[in-house]
Amino acid sequence: MKKSSIVGLLIGLTALLVIPFHVLKAGEESKDVEKIEFVGANKCKMCHNLKKFGMFHDDWMQTKHAKAMDVLNEDEKKNPECLKCHTTGYGKPGGFVSLEKTPALAGVQCEMCHGPGQEHIKSKRGGTVIPHAWEPEEETCVKCHNKENPNWKEDRYTDPETGTKAGFIYKVAVKEINHAKVLEQLGKKPKTADLK
Ligand code: HEC
Ligand code: HEC
Ligand code: HEC
Ligand code: HEC
Repeated sequence: MKKSSIVGLLIGLTALLVIPFHVLKAGEESKDVEKIEFVGANKCKMCHNLKKFGMFHDDWMQTKHAKAMDVLNEDEKKNPECLKCHTTGYGKPGGFVSLEKTPALAGVQCEMCHGPGQEHIKSKRGGTVIPHAWEPEEETCVKCHNKENPNWKEDRYTDPETGTKAGFIYKVAVKEINHAKVLEQLGKKPKTADLK
């Protein structure tokens, strides 16, 4: 090998080493959370559908979130513009790909509110409980409950105190989905119950 080509090779190798390093760093800046995989509600069901610890899965099944795929027609079920808000983890690691490949991730499941569960599902009752990637809060909901939704209605929600109407009002909406009945059975009250 000629000296010049060795130099060229060295420059090439250095570039290879440097470029991925920068990509990785940018990825890390956009949070490690992005790398945690989605696992689907069936996994959550194993630990969170027991009388003693709360029937969270059954409770969620009663909500429109669980059936969010059913409101789409056959074409819409393949349209990325709809799937990003009507499925779980669309375009993310372990997330929804298509009804053929990942039927168990259709609809708005637990992890869209609680964060991808790959780490958390290693938790043990009476042992280490690995926290979720995030906790549900208004910011979580408005990723989907916003004007990008073609069915957005400015007067969908009404503030009971002021009578003001809006397309989304967190304190009102959250009370429909905060597992209040399950928590009551456990002798607990949702943290979000008293939001004013
Ligand atoms: C192997 C069992 C197991 C699996 C599977 C599991 N969890 Fe948990 N989870 C626990 C334990 C243990 C706790 C601690 C509280 C308790 O005992 O109920 C907990 C607590 C929680 C909490 C409240 C504390 C927190 O971190 O915010 C949420 C929310 C939760 N799990 C959601 C989920 C979701 C969503 C899934 C599915 C992706 C899931 N869990 C799967 C065992 C599990
Ligand atoms: C930005 C997130 C988002 C996108 C994108 C989105 N939706 Fe939705 N969709 C929602 C939300 C949130 C609701 C629940 C209604 C509400 O609270 O505004 C909903 C409700 C619906 C409903 C039930 C009707 C109703 O008014 O409740 C249908 C049907 C629907 N969407 C179809 C679609 C179709 C078709 C597409 C793609 C062209 C789509 N959505 C894209 C978030 C979205
Ligand atoms: C639309 C959002 C949403 C979805 C979907 C959802 N949750 Fe939750 N979850 C919440 C909110 C909000 C709370 C906080 C309740 C409160 O106010 O204390 C919560 C709390 C919890 C808790 C903690 C209760 C405690 O002891 O404080 C568990 C466990 C849980 N959810 C499990 C699940 C599981 C399992 C699923 C799916 C089968 C699921 N959730 C689906 C929004 C959601
Ligand atoms: C991944 C997108 C997504 C996220 C995140 C999300 N939602 Fe939704 N939500 C939807 C869709 C889609 C529907 C409509 C499902 C249907 O009509 O079948 C819906 C419906 C609802 C409904 C029922 C509305 C009705 O017409 O009965 C409530 C209440 C609601 N969401 C509250 C919340 C709250 C509170 C949060 C945050 C803690 C949240 N959602 C997070 C997508 C989402």
